[in-house]
Amino acid sequence: MTLQDGVRLASLIGASGFVLGLHLMNSPATARRGNQLSALGMLVAVVAVLVEVGHGGTMSAARWLVLISGALVGGAAGLYSARTVAMTSMPQLVSLFNAVGGGAAALIAVADYQHEPSVSAGTATATVLDVLIGCVTFSGSLIATAKLQGYLSQPVSFPGSRASSAVLTLVVAAAGIDVIAGADNAWILLIAVVAAVGLGILMVLPIGGADMPVVISLLNAFTGTAVAMAGFVLQNATLTIAGALVGASGGILTKLMADAMNRSVLSIIAGGFGTGASGIAPVAAGGGNVKSIAIDDAALQLAYASKVIIVPGYGLAAAQAQHEVRELAELLEQRGVEVSYAIHPVAGRMPGHMNVLLAEANVPYDQLREMEEINPEFDRTDVALVIGANDVTNPAARRAGNAVSGMPILDVDHARSVVVIKRSMASGYAGIDNELYSDPKTSMLFADAKKGLASLVAATKAV
Ligand code: TAP
Repeated sequence: MTLQDGVRLASLIGASGFVLGLHLMNSPATARRGNQLSALGMLVAVVAVLVEVGHGGTMSAARWLVLISGALVGGAAGLYSARTVAMTSMPQLVSLFNAVGGGAAALIAVADYQHEPSVSAGTATATVLDVLIGCVTFSGSLIATAKLQGYLSQPVSFPGSRASSAVLTLVVAAAGIDVIAGADNAWILLIAVVAAVGLGILMVLPIGGADMPVVISLLNAFTGTAVAMAGFVLQNATLTIAGALVGASGGILTKLMADAMNRSVLSIIAGGFGTGASGIAPVAAGGGNVKSIAIDDAALQLAYASKVIIVPGYGLAAAQAQHEVRELAELLEQRGVEVSYAIHPVAGRMPGHMNVLLAEANVPYDQLREMEEINPEFDRTDVALVIGANDVTNPAARRAGNAVSGMPILDVDHARSVVVIKRSMASGYAGIDNELYSDPKTSMLFADAKKGLASLVAATKAV
């Protein structure tokens, strides 16, 4: 076997690792193994490329130094941030990684073009797409990161932003076509880069409210596509396969999330939805007839119920109260209460947030029920216990004219009684009041989720 054959075989093994790893991520039970397998595939692919490059005769000592220090610094930064990030800050981290991926893919294409500007129309098309998608992803993801981290208000809009986006799109298209047509001029590519960076900023600035998760997923799909294009430019099959997998899975996730929120991806990018910028009136404040409940009374309701549905949301994750909720559920089950968890597809701050959180506390998977499956059961539920969830339970979503309109919700208000644990009457991510709180059958238990649940556990034991 020649060295070339060995490298190709290693690339194939690496790519198989990505595919199998992705497949294992279908279930929380095997997701960890899937992640490890994908990482192993990436390691094999990187080593294969290093061996190939090492034997290519183009590497000087200085180039090796740059390559190795870059890998060490990047690897250490990635490892540190992934290990220390709070689960609730994961979307920001994913968004930052999207920016890095998109930016790197664009830089590869620019460097390759500078090195060899006179290429076939096919390679020039891949180069242009790589640069454009990569630059839009880079700047758009940085803006998304800043918004999620709270550095920028969301949404941000200014007069003329749509017209500016249209002009930038035209500039990007004209410059791209020029490069593909064979214009041997690095300046034209630079104009395309600057316009695409501007376009990414203008695309994400006006988006806000409940639409941000879809945007992050879309930018993730863009990153994959840019990386796949970089694979074409460099004629590297592993890069193309890895990029295509990220692009395709990101695209599917974007569609699923948009469907779960009853949005169209196009309308989100065009702006307006979830931004409060479409002349939409906020829901009337629900503070009027809100009644609160004491811990002991809530414990009594739960202990004497025959069916309880727990509705976890962002506040449960923020309070890190997953262990306390599992303890309460176990206590109730010991008393003969039927307990399940209602999982909304966009509860929390990242796809699968509630599943990951509850799995960490060893909540049995069969108790986690998807929205469509559990919704019909609220009608015969004695107590719906809502913990730090807000938007995903807001009945206002069933009406037109507000920031959550059309988003499918958990039918919590169909239960006989509702107990909501949260700290105040503050709104959720979409920034609107929740009509559920003033429903006559709802009682508010004002507390931090962790402390409130710990007190509920103690009070339930005493019942
Ligand atoms: P939200 O609507 O964001 O509401 C969370 C509630 O948790 C808040 O009203 C807050 O009220 C409460 N809370 C915060 N810290 C708490 C604590 N320590 N203890 C108890 N309660 C606490 O959450 P949700 O219902 O899960 O809905 C998710 C929202 O985020 C949706 O609008 C969704 O579109 C958006 N989003 C989702 C994702 C993904 S992919 N899941 C990503 C980004 C955004 P208090 O301050 O009064 O306690």
